[in-house]
Amino acid sequence: MVGLFVALFMPINIHTLFSLFFPIKSIMEVVKKEVILLTLLCFSLRDVLVDGKRKITAMDKEDAVEKKLKLLNKPAVKTIQSEDGDIIDCVDVYKQPAFDHPLLRNHTITLRPSEEPFTKAANADSNSSANLAWQVWRKSGSCPEGTIPILRIEKRHLLNTNSLETYGRKPRHGVTKHEIHLPNKTILIGVEDLNEVSVLVGAGYSYLGIQARINTWNPRVEASDEFSSAQIWLRNGPFRNFDSVEAGWIVYPDLYNDTATRFFIYWAAGANTGCFNLLCSGFVQIDPSIALGARIDPISQEWGDQYIIELTIWKDLKDDDKWWVAYGRTTFGYWPASIFRGLTKVGTVALFGGIVYSPRMKQQLPHTRTAMGSGRFAFDHWGQAAFIGQPRIMDYSKTFKYPDPGQTFSTHTDCYSGENYAEVQFTEPRFYFGGPGRNMYCK
Ligand SMILES: *[C@@H]1O[C@H](CO)[C@@H](O)[C@H](O)[C@H]1NC(C)=O
Ligand SMILES: *[C@@H]1O[C@H](CO)[C@@H](O)[C@H](O)[C@H]1NC(C)=O
Ligand SMILES: *[C@@H]1O[C@H](CO)[C@@H](O)[C@H](O)[C@H]1NC(C)=O
Ligand SMILES: *[C@@H]1O[C@H](CO)[C@@H](O)[C@H](O)[C@H]1NC(C)=O
Repeated sequence: MVGLFVALFMPINIHTLFSLFFPIKSIMEVVKKEVILLTLLCFSLRDVLVDGKRKITAMDKEDAVEKKLKLLNKPAVKTIQSEDGDIIDCVDVYKQPAFDHPLLRNHTITLRPSEEPFTKAANADSNSSANLAWQVWRKSGSCPEGTIPILRIEKRHLLNTNSLETYGRKPRHGVTKHEIHLPNKTILIGVEDLNEVSVLVGAGYSYLGIQARINTWNPRVEASDEFSSAQIWLRNGPFRNFDSVEAGWIVYPDLYNDTATRFFIYWAAGANTGCFNLLCSGFVQIDPSIALGARIDPISQEWGDQYIIELTIWKDLKDDDKWWVAYGRTTFGYWPASIFRGLTKVGTVALFGGIVYSPRMKQQLPHTRTAMGSGRFAFDHWGQAAFIGQPRIMDYSKTFKYPDPGQTFSTHTDCYSGENYAEVQFTEPRFYFGGPGRNMYCK
């Protein structure tokens, strides 16, 4: 604005200055000066227009933000103000975002899976040294039956996104193929560009489910457009265009407007589709006690108490159209298989581990300082490094098994590492993973 005013009033001042320093000697000079003045005026006019346009754009953005908020937030039956600053809306289960999906307009909600596979989990945890973490908002109230808790999206959440249209979707720039060598074969997995991962991979079979106990931490995230997650995935489909269902915890400032560790689910049916939680239509939630995107607590302490979240995703074999998800023993919803193209029947890749995403990854040195897991490398093990305990896959036997042969894979071991390690010999290993990002060897 200051520039605009200066530009508008400049011509007069310059006119005066010109008159002072170059007394008019001929008509030609006057003409020359007028040309200069006209030129200056033109520039000023252009500035007015540009500025006017900018103002309209800002107003448009305001409008667009309001529209997006209306679209994302459904009318609440009850509202809970959580002590951590989140607002949780209890929304009628039949008014949830899923019904905005063109394929789900007439969807009839299924309130229960035909069976819950938890009891079939092989060797239930014999090591009780890790406790279950829960959700912070639950201290402040609960949602009535027939409603689901939805984290309210406020203006502050949308102000930092670089595109309202893609808010809620992970940036997908491209996918690079990586070879993973199993004892008898080599398999290929796709890793999204600008992502560093450290994972335990199960591949080469048909997967009907995945389950894990994910150690909770709050890694440092250096820039607000970067994220760090610990999660499980099931995938199917072509490399560049695969389908994926995911669940875990994440720190993602540009999505949640803070650096807290939050529970999330994610889905994609090929590139440029899908989203976190209920930020687009697709996932159908049935349970009033789990809020997607809400903060989890407690977080594990170095050398102190270790906490986990137990997550399960599985295909209903009787009602073939559903991928159910459970947090602990609470089955809270499903993705209808009909929204997918690759994941209609089974998953072909099961992954357990961490991601660090940075839009500047590899293109801009130095490497990000965003940490994965606890920020410690895998070799620090129990009490320091993050772990995934009891990684399980489900096949047609309908029981959860260790993903054998399970192979560890890390895109950049100097930055983030992964290791299968059992503290007690001849017992099942945990998958330890993580790292600090930039350090002496990771530049
Ligand atoms: C939903 O139901 C309406 C009316 O019965 C029908 O016209 C429409 O095609 C249905 N949509 C889907 C996606 O099944
Ligand atoms: C659980 O695992 C930790 C780390 O492996 C070990 O230190 C602890 O003794 C185990 N506890 C039991 C009850 O086995
Ligand atoms: C690998 O091949 C050997 C010999 O053909 C076989 O005995 C073994 O079961 C195979 N392992 C896996 C994991 O398929
Ligand atoms: C939260 O949003 C506000 C308003 O846009 C912004 O100033 C602040 O930096 C954001 N905080 C985080 C941690 O992203």
